Amino acid sequence: MVGEEQSRRNSTGEKDSRARRLTRWPGLIEHYRRFLPVTATTPVVTLNEGNTPLIESSELASRVGQNIKFYLKYDGVNPTGSFKDRGMTVAISKALEAGVKTVICASTGNTSASAAAYAARAGLRAFVLIPRGATAIGKLSQSLMHGARVIEIVGNFDICLKVVRDLAERDPTRIRLVNSINPDRIAGQKTAAFEICDQLGDAPTHHFLPVGNAGNITACWAGYNEYRERGLCSGTPKMMGYQAAGSAPIVMGHPVDDPHTVATAIKIGNPASWRAAEAARDESGGVIDMVTDGEILAAYRLVAAQGAFAEPASAASVAGAIKCGASGAIKPGSVVVCTLTGHGLKDPDTALKNLSSTIVCEPDIDKVYRIMENER
Ligand code: F0G
Repeated sequence: MVGEEQSRRNSTGEKDSRARRLTRWPGLIEHYRRFLPVTATTPVVTLNEGNTPLIESSELASRVGQNIKFYLKYDGVNPTGSFKDRGMTVAISKALEAGVKTVICASTGNTSASAAAYAARAGLRAFVLIPRGATAIGKLSQSLMHGARVIEIVGNFDICLKVVRDLAERDPTRIRLVNSINPDRIAGQKTAAFEICDQLGDAPTHHFLPVGNAGNITACWAGYNEYRERGLCSGTPKMMGYQAAGSAPIVMGHPVDDPHTVATAIKIGNPASWRAAEAARDESGGVIDMVTDGEILAAYRLVAAQGAFAEPASAASVAGAIKCGASGAIKPGSVVVCTLTGHGLKDPDTALKNLSSTIVCEPDIDKVYRIMENER
C-alpha cells in the first residue's frame, strides 16, 4: 500500500513526498528499550506515550532568575494526560508478560486513569481504589470510560494504598499492583529524564517537580544518574521537589494524617517513596520544600498564560521554581526544567472556580462589540 501510494504521488509530480512524511514515534519502550526491563519477547503495550514537548518560556524565566533558561516539560500531553503513562506502559507490559489477569492500584486519579487505559489495551481487568469525593472529574471519567472497576474508598489516598498493598500481597500470582512502588513503573518514568537530556543536549541544572507519593522524583533522579553513568549527559541536576503546604510530610518530617490541598493529585500524607525522595534530594544537592495553595493557584494561572494548561498539582513545580528563585538560589546561567505532570482538562472544576466568569449576551452585533470595547 505504502509503495503504491508513493509511486502514485511521484507520478503526479510530488517529488518530495518522502521528506514530508513525519517520523512515527514508537512509544518509549521501543525508543529507550536498552534502558528498560524488557526483552524481545515482552509484549509491548503502548499508546505511543513519551516524546512530550519541552517548551521554553522567557516570561517564566524572568520570574525565576536573571540570565537563565526556563523550560516546561509538558508531560500532561501524554496519551491519558499525565506522566503516569511513562510508567504504565512498562508496568502493564510486564504484567501481561507475567500472565497476571488483574491489575490494581490506589490513586488520586491519574494513576487510575492510566492503569485503566493500558489495562484495557492489554485485555487485563483493572480495579482502582480512589479516595471518595477527592478525585478530579476528568480522571474519574477516564477510569470509568476505559472500563476499570472504580472503588471509592471512604478514606484518603494513604488508606487506599494500604488496602491495595495488602490485597496484592494476598494473591501475588494473579493480582499485580501498578502503583509506583512497582519497580517497572519507576523504570518507565525515568525516561522523562532521558528525554529532557536528549531535548536539551545535556542535563539541566535544576529539575522542579511536584511531590505526592514521591515516585516521580525518585524515577527522574535514577534516569539522570543512568544517563550520566553511560556518558549521555555531563552532570545531573539538583532535584527540586515541592509538596503542597497542607500535605507536606517530607518537609515536616512526619506523616500528615489529614492532608488537604487544592492540588488533589498530591494530597498525600505518607508517601511510599519517602526515603528514596530524600536520597534524590540529598545526593543531588536539591531541596524538598512546600508551596501554599495560593502559590500553586498563582502559578497555575501563569502557566496557562503561557499557553500550557496544566492541573493544579503540576503548577506546584512552577510555584516552587518561583519561590526558590525569589530566595536568590537560581544563579545566572542556570537551566531550569519544571515538569507539568498532568493536563489541565483533568480538573475543569478547579479551572472554572478560579477564573472570571463568562459573559452572557444576546446574538446582537452591537452588544457584542460594546463588550469587546469595554474589555480592551
Ligand atoms: N502531579 C500529578 C498530576 C500527579 O497525579 C501526581 C501523582 C504527582 C504530580 C506526584 O507524583 O506521586 O510520583 O510524587 N499522582 C498519583 C496518582 C499519586 O494516584 O495519580 P508522585
